[in-house]
Amino acid sequence: MPIISLTSFKGGVSKTTSAICLASLFCSDGATLVIDADPNRSATTWARPGGLPFQVCGEKEAAKLMRAQKFEYIIFDTPARPNDVEVEELARGCDLLIVPTPPDLLAMEAMALVAKSLPPDTNWRVLLTMVPPPPQKDGAEAMSALQSQGYPVLSQKIRFYKAYKDAVIQGVPLHKVRGGKTAWRDWTELKKEVVQALKTNG
Ligand SMILES: Nc1ncnc2c1ncn2[C@@H]1O[C@H](COP(=O)(O)OP(=O)(O)OP(=O)(O)O)[C@@H](O)[C@H]1O
Ligand SMILES: [Mg+2]
Repeated sequence: MPIISLTSFKGGVSKTTSAICLASLFCSDGATLVIDADPNRSATTWARPGGLPFQVCGEKEAAKLMRAQKFEYIIFDTPARPNDVEVEELARGCDLLIVPTPPDLLAMEAMALVAKSLPPDTNWRVLLTMVPPPPQKDGAEAMSALQSQGYPVLSQKIRFYKAYKDAVIQGVPLHKVRGGKTAWRDWTELKKEVVQALKTNG
């Protein structure tokens, strides 16, 4: 039962979006649970209309739900601005920690601070999110900066599309909204890297 957690010091970097998209991706392989550990309850809001093909529950409900039902994948969505102790706990409590960051300096500096708080044996990856379309080079530049600094960055970038907002409004997975299929391709491409990253967890 792989456990994937999303975290960042900065708000609004696509943690919840990534949690829901990863769950949409993995739920076809087995029962998937998103644990919404954010008091803002964004993942729960997305799930409320009932159109997501997996369950989303609060942190305090999770134990009972997991006793009643076997899940193949657990995805943890967490609040922004955790303290160092919380980041450490989160890292120890999962098989893969994903730190999403848009390709901008402030977000990437916040990601670097998360990196510093992680225990040395953490299995973690940086995910570039909300990457603007060409001709803007922000995504490519951020990728090479992260790689040259030795961060464990996933090579598949997640591009910026309006479809994400529509998916939240409609309470459905990204690929179910108009224009969502193109955006969804980033996630299907990302899947093999995430599966590989889960395997490297020793
Ligand atoms: N790839 C993307 N393209 C376009 N919009 C996006 C993308 N990813 C996220 N968004 C939008 O950006 C906003 C912030 O995303 P999200 O809520 O997932 O961030 P978060 O890190 O969970 O924020 P918080 O720290 O408040 O929990 C949302 O409105 C979401 O729809
Ligand atoms: Mg969130």
